[in-house]
Amino acid sequence: MKLSRILSNQNGVSRRHARHLLAAGEVQVDGTTCHDGSREVSRFQQVCVGSTIVQQAAPAYYLMLHKPAGYLSATVDNQHPTVLELLPASLRPHLHIGGRLDRATTGLLILSSDGRWSRQLTLPGTKIPKTYKVTTALPITPEVRQRFQEGIWFAFEQLSTSPAELDILGTHEARITIYEGRYHQVKRMFHAVGNCVTSLHRESMGCLKLDPTLEPGCYRHLRPEEVSSVG
Ligand code: URA
Repeated sequence: MKLSRILSNQNGVSRRHARHLLAAGEVQVDGTTCHDGSREVSRFQQVCVGSTIVQQAAPAYYLMLHKPAGYLSATVDNQHPTVLELLPASLRPHLHIGGRLDRATTGLLILSSDGRWSRQLTLPGTKIPKTYKVTTALPITPEVRQRFQEGIWFAFEQLSTSPAELDILGTHEARITIYEGRYHQVKRMFHAVGNCVTSLHRESMGCLKLDPTLEPGCYRHLRPEEVSSVG
């Protein structure tokens, strides 16, 4: 929201008075004087007029979790444990998931209280690469690489998947990079070429790589450079 709106809307200050406060150097955003009412200020920033806080900064959390198998990427469920149960209770109400994983899928899961930020990871237009290690029931033939490059037809959505990269690591093992996040995408792509995924593990989303020191079920806060690598 624009700073001038935060000042006028939320605090019964007239627009004229808001302009006056800005010009007089009375307004601070995160401790720094700001004269520009057109500046975009997020809910994670603090706004003060003199010594009065007019907007308290909402807590901004950016986490990576090593998701173990068996946990649902959901906030609540009455049948299965959810990934939120792996995090401290005090953080849970603030968090949402940036790019869900199936219950059996393991690996990198990103959670944040900043919805605008985490949507960058999942919006189809952003084309952020997501890399998975996959094992299959049947051998992976070299032609599959070409099929995935060309795109796989998903009849339900009436679309072809964007070109995906396949690096065959062994007879039944590969690394796949996709640029979308469609429902059960990797499993459905392998199914379309007559194979079946037996295990799936997400290694990275864009520049965010699963920290190798994180055991399954453990999480850590993202570093500032990791947060700013998104968007
Ligand atoms: N593709 C799938 O099929 N499942 C996942 O969990 C992620 C990508």
